[in-house]
Amino acid sequence: MCGIVGILGNEAVAPLIVDALKRLEYRGYDSAGVATLENGRLDRRRAPGKLRTLEEKLRREPLSGHAGIGHTRWATHGTPNETNAHPHATERVAVVHNGIIENYRELRDDLAKQGVKFESETDTETIVHLIEAELNNGKTPEESVPAVLSKLRGAFALAFLFKGGDDLMIAARRGSPLAVGHGDGEMYVGSDAIALAPFTDRISYLNDGDCAFLTRKGVTIRDKDGLGSVVERPVQKSNASAMVIEKGNYRHFMAKEIAEQPEVVGHTLAHHLDMSAGRARIPEGIDFAKLDRIAFSACGTAYYAALVARYWFEKFARMPVDIDIASEFRYREPPLKEGGLAILISQSGETADTLATLRHCRAQGMQIASVVNVPTSTIARESDAVFPTLAGPEIGVASTKAFTCQLATLACLAIAAGRARGVLSAEDEERLVGALIELPRLMAETLKLEPQIERLAKDFSKAQDALYLGRGTSFPIALEGALKLKEISYIHAEGYAAGELKHGPIALVDEKVPVVVIAPYDTLFEKTVSNMQEVAARGGKVLLITDEAGAKEAGGEFETLIVPTSYAFVSPMIYAIPMQLLAYHTAVFMGTDVDQPRNLAKSVTVE
Ligand code: AGP
Repeated sequence: MCGIVGILGNEAVAPLIVDALKRLEYRGYDSAGVATLENGRLDRRRAPGKLRTLEEKLRREPLSGHAGIGHTRWATHGTPNETNAHPHATERVAVVHNGIIENYRELRDDLAKQGVKFESETDTETIVHLIEAELNNGKTPEESVPAVLSKLRGAFALAFLFKGGDDLMIAARRGSPLAVGHGDGEMYVGSDAIALAPFTDRISYLNDGDCAFLTRKGVTIRDKDGLGSVVERPVQKSNASAMVIEKGNYRHFMAKEIAEQPEVVGHTLAHHLDMSAGRARIPEGIDFAKLDRIAFSACGTAYYAALVARYWFEKFARMPVDIDIASEFRYREPPLKEGGLAILISQSGETADTLATLRHCRAQGMQIASVVNVPTSTIARESDAVFPTLAGPEIGVASTKAFTCQLATLACLAIAAGRARGVLSAEDEERLVGALIELPRLMAETLKLEPQIERLAKDFSKAQDALYLGRGTSFPIALEGALKLKEISYIHAEGYAAGELKHGPIALVDEKVPVVVIAPYDTLFEKTVSNMQEVAARGGKVLLITDEAGAKEAGGEFETLIVPTSYAFVSPMIYAIPMQLLAYHTAVFMGTDVDQPRNLAKSVTVE
């Protein structure tokens, strides 16, 4: 999604803003711009494409103002060109916006009837003309912004500059994240702490409905879209500056993040397990013994983590699970029990549908827990209990290390739930925890398959369509494998329960369609072998991903990738790695933008 940076500084801020926007590139964007105030006059530079295009423009036509706002735009309304790029401005006000104004069409029509001429196709431009109208009615900038916010429906993070207001920046948040950075004689706003890390580690996070009035001396925050009372938001010390947002010697962030998994899964397990006691830590505030069911919801890869967790909670904690993708969950109106537990899973902690589901469950009187990778995110801050994944910043749009850390966290939670409910014996708990403790080593072993996978990817990259099959907890891994492939290589792929093959998908199978089968050797393996023979009988190319025992059983009949043997319990975290590497190397062969695939954003903060 879009990125926002604003600076009230004491030097030319345009280059600083562009550098800060680079730290938000991981969010995905397709145009960018900066506006600054110089001698009270607003001026801006905007450009389509990547930030280097904007930098070239600024080199040719520099901006020297000491107050500025900047934006990386992920197009929602209107094509990604200079006219639609932010900041949008009139002579007296400039604004940058992350989110969607849902009632912009009626607002725009009203303004057009009053003779307003629009230059862009965006919802955002409507805001500057609404501000202009308030200024024309004699309101000050500080009065105009709250007056306009009350007219807007939808999600937004906004930052404004005003002609003549050299020491004023106004920011507002409703649904899209926005942070205030506290400097020495300077103040900042940004979409997250990572953007502001070069300037300050003292961060206040705005809540929904907050309107912040900044000067170089500090900030005043009012709630209720700026019409309410002055509120205090704590100044927290951010560790974002310590976050190494670099690729190191990797070609892509995604490659680095795949390689980091043994380490970060180990950190995550160490947080959720008492390794010396061989036990899972029982989380504060959640009494699984008092719960008779559990609800999960998430989007995309995080949803596949929830699908795996369902098997674990039902098997080891004997807890029935309600589950759905977040964009469906609340509209189904599932019968939720007051006092029940909802667990939301989100790498960014800002996904709009997941946040909306959290609030839906809250409104139903449920306890809210979340598994997030950003402990300062909105979802985390609105949860009763937070179970962090310690994956570190995940920059590649395709989720990899966050996914396996989500699985590790959920595995620990399922064990804790089983013990709390008295349905998991101490020796079973010790066995499962032991399997988790081995996991980082087994994941490191699996990463050594990369050269073999790279060779397989060369052929794979010629496919138009691909099928991924799995049973049990390998079924969600098949879904994840298909998602990884399609989102970074743009090859169409579908994940299916292997048992479903004959109920339709086998019609797709011919010699052009690779079929990836994820099948650790277990009691279901025989059935999966029959599925593979059905595929082979129709000329389909099977790639079997299994362990030693499975390879032996399959008898060399299929192209096989052998991964380390493990407990079935931890196989999802292991088999996720070949899924990631196959997609990665296929995309590299395809020459796509692996870290920022077309049309995608790292955090989908609009519905
Ligand atoms: C996964 O590779 C995708 N980038 C996407 O499906 C992602 O998992 C989804 O948007 C959820 O994001 P979140 O975990 O930040 O909520």
